[in-house]
Amino acid sequence: MWGGRFEGEPSDLLRAFNDSFAFDFQLFAEDVEGSIAWANALERAGVLTSDESSKLTNALKKIAAPRSFTDHEDIHSYVESKLYESIGNIAGKLHTGRSRNDQGATDLKLWLRKACDEAIVNIRSLARALAKRAANEAATPMPGYTHSKQAEPVTFGHWCLAYCEMLVRDIDRFRAAKQRGDECPLGSGALAGTPLAIDRAALAKSLGFASATANSIDSVSDRDFAAEYLFAVSLTLSHLSRCAEDLIFFSSDEAGYLELPDALATGSSRMPQKKNPDVLELVRGHAGRAIGELTGFLAVMKGIPLAYDKDLQLDKEPLFRMRATLAVALPALAALIEGLKLNRERMRAAAGAPMLIATAVADAMAWKGVPFREAHDRVGRELASIEKLAKEHGVTLDGILAKKNAFGGTAPDRVAEAARVILSRIDGEGSQETLRSAQGDQS
Ligand code: ARG
Repeated sequence: MWGGRFEGEPSDLLRAFNDSFAFDFQLFAEDVEGSIAWANALERAGVLTSDESSKLTNALKKIAAPRSFTDHEDIHSYVESKLYESIGNIAGKLHTGRSRNDQGATDLKLWLRKACDEAIVNIRSLARALAKRAANEAATPMPGYTHSKQAEPVTFGHWCLAYCEMLVRDIDRFRAAKQRGDECPLGSGALAGTPLAIDRAALAKSLGFASATANSIDSVSDRDFAAEYLFAVSLTLSHLSRCAEDLIFFSSDEAGYLELPDALATGSSRMPQKKNPDVLELVRGHAGRAIGELTGFLAVMKGIPLAYDKDLQLDKEPLFRMRATLAVALPALAALIEGLKLNRERMRAAAGAPMLIATAVADAMAWKGVPFREAHDRVGRELASIEKLAKEHGVTLDGILAKKNAFGGTAPDRVAEAARVILSRIDGEGSQETLRSAQGDQS
């Protein structure tokens, strides 16, 4: 591909370090798609005859996906060499006015689009699983925590919907990352642009991009879209990790609020009684790794002088790894949420424990005119007789929950309503807009 000015073959040491085929083979479909669009653009620019461009296009469509990843430098040289095998010297016309720099950036943006769509589909499924449980458990009390200490009763449905909120924001972030990648770099050449009369706007459109990139130097060296994707993955996995943390505790012998489905738990080779939350622990671990991938990516990017430098070849593996991780973590957690067996009696008993109703007793005193600070102080000093105080003031677990009825609260009616509304927000076009209209209807 570039051997003209060289004598002899590249060393094995160079090959081992420089080749990217072992991972960028994953851009095969995108490389072919981009190449077909380029062949058509060359024809429209009068560089290729229609016969040449259809020969190229037909041959490109017939290239088989690579099955071994050692005998080429990268996916671009693989596709080109297969093209030569298939149609001979005309193959050499495809790279006219194009560089692997604009080609590679384009491939990656085509990839990103699919990766974002895939993430959104999987996040939606998890969010729907949570919303469904929320609808069914809108009136199931459980202890709510702050500082990992029992704080006030909430409902399990309300807890489910807290994660739905995070996921709806995650959907927004993947949508934004996709939008960031919606400008087509093809036609930027190596860095300076292309000398051919390419209609770049039409070329961009033919590949489904909103527009062409505006600066050829930036085009070949920009990876902001990749950084934003990795951030969206990291934050999504951080949310899943928090959810995993909660569920590990809820399923612990100490809490015992719920049991994990057998199909998504593991046993011990030594201790026959054990049922372990490995899936949840792996989610938690992968979130840590994702943060590392994002940080590593930013560290690679920050020192790269304009325009293309080979450091940029290292952009791909973190993206591929994170897409693969997310694509298993999300469905696994969704299945686990669907299969949770709740111990509702134990949750209710824990939620109604005397200490959890202390705040509501102080509230009840305040309703009767005692300044809240004073009520707080008195309840704090009389915790030993909290049950008696609760009776005196008519405080019950279900009463406490029913009162938390302002928008966003844990009252069973509110939770049931929120579980309905969240469905349209999960499928909606933007979480903020749909929340605003939902609030207008409800509050
Ligand atoms: N394999 C390279 C990459 O992944 C393709 C671009 C090579 N361009 C170059 N100027 N060496 O980034």
